[in-house]
Amino acid sequence: MNAPNGLPDLSHLWMPFTANRQFKSQPRLLASAKGMYYTSVDGRQILDGTSGLWCVNAGHCRDEIVQAITRQAAEMDYAPGFQLGHPLAFEAASAVAGLMPQGLDRIFFTNSGSESVDTALKIALAYHRARGEGQRTRLIGRERGYHGVGFGGISVGGISPNRKTFSGALLPAVDHLPHTHNLEKNAFSKGQPAWGEQLADELERIVALHDPSTIAAVIVEPMAGSTGVLIPPKGYLERLRAITAKYGILLIFDEVITGYGRLGAATASEFLGVTPDLISMAKGISNAAVPAGAVAVKRDVHDAIVNGVQGGIEFFHGYTYSAHPLAAAAILATLDLYKRENLFTRARELAPAFEAAAHSLKAVPNVIDIRNIGLVAGIELAPREGAPGARAAEAFQKCFDNGLMVRYTGDTIAVSPPLIIEEAQITELFQKIGNVLKEIA
Ligand SMILES: Cc1ncc(COP(=O)(O)O)c(C=O)c1O
Repeated sequence: MNAPNGLPDLSHLWMPFTANRQFKSQPRLLASAKGMYYTSVDGRQILDGTSGLWCVNAGHCRDEIVQAITRQAAEMDYAPGFQLGHPLAFEAASAVAGLMPQGLDRIFFTNSGSESVDTALKIALAYHRARGEGQRTRLIGRERGYHGVGFGGISVGGISPNRKTFSGALLPAVDHLPHTHNLEKNAFSKGQPAWGEQLADELERIVALHDPSTIAAVIVEPMAGSTGVLIPPKGYLERLRAITAKYGILLIFDEVITGYGRLGAATASEFLGVTPDLISMAKGISNAAVPAGAVAVKRDVHDAIVNGVQGGIEFFHGYTYSAHPLAAAAILATLDLYKRENLFTRARELAPAFEAAAHSLKAVPNVIDIRNIGLVAGIELAPREGAPGARAAEAFQKCFDNGLMVRYTGDTIAVSPPLIIEEAQITELFQKIGNVLKEIA
């Protein structure tokens, strides 16, 4: 039933990762979307500075994707994925494999980033067990890491509010690398910061503490997005790769945000030239038009599990909606669109203008750091005394009121527009942020 103000009854929906009471007292509702813009329920155009939630990489409501989903919904709405299949699922897997770094060409489908992360962790455990190293059960994440909200993901994740309520029920054999954020050394770095490669050596300390024979996998976001845009220091991921390889530990890159063009290549792995053993992904895989995710797995990891049993099911894991026909149709149409419009290259070509526009905010009051890579920027603000996060929250609201959608985490504003953004819109986006920051200073 509609409330007197024309809005629906807001009381029943328990909103995710939202201050529910605050939101419902001042709702921000979106009605439609096209290309670079949302339209709010009160008819305002809002420039999408965040690709929805880092996911609508090709822009909104693209005809090709809409048509593919519509066609598929009419032709076959659902097909079971256990012991049965449908051609689009296999085609989508081939298309995804074609974009992954060489060797990661076995694809397991999920419906979200959280599911992809938990699937990747389970594959790591299954791999070691299949090779007779079932004692390798320890998983290493990183402080400030975000790997979704499953019990696996929050256990290896390192954002404390996401963990503390559930602290008694986290996975037992987990350790964490230190995060890589250091304002003193790296503030206002453009692209990968120069300082911090040696932080990867902490893995040697963790390995020595637990013994390598107990460690299954290390999982990191190549660029940590949700915690507030932390760019990997130069040489850091290379060192993690070398250390994991030395001890037979699998390296998982969580590319839920960085996959599908965000940095200017299909994956961060490709862009940064470091190849992990598994990649978890979601979001941009289907342009967020249908929930979808996947894990790309190195062939020998897959083969160890799948060829490791005499017969029957090899891996006791999967989702009712793994490779759902609508998701498969959306993935195929999305990947086709990325290719046809050369969107990953476009992102790479726009990155210098984006970097310059982001760093033009350096002298704005309360800006204490600006970080960027590809089409991602983080603008860190000085926290207000006794009210961490309040300044960024106010900036977010004011940007929204001024027709711009950004995200914020703590006191960092994050920007990650669709890859179809025009240079003039990049200028507009950062000018709006700058004006808002000056206003609230
Ligand atoms: C790196 C990373 N992993 C996992 C997730 C979780 O994805 P989802 O919300 O689709 O479960 C996210 C979401 O932002 C993410 O950024």
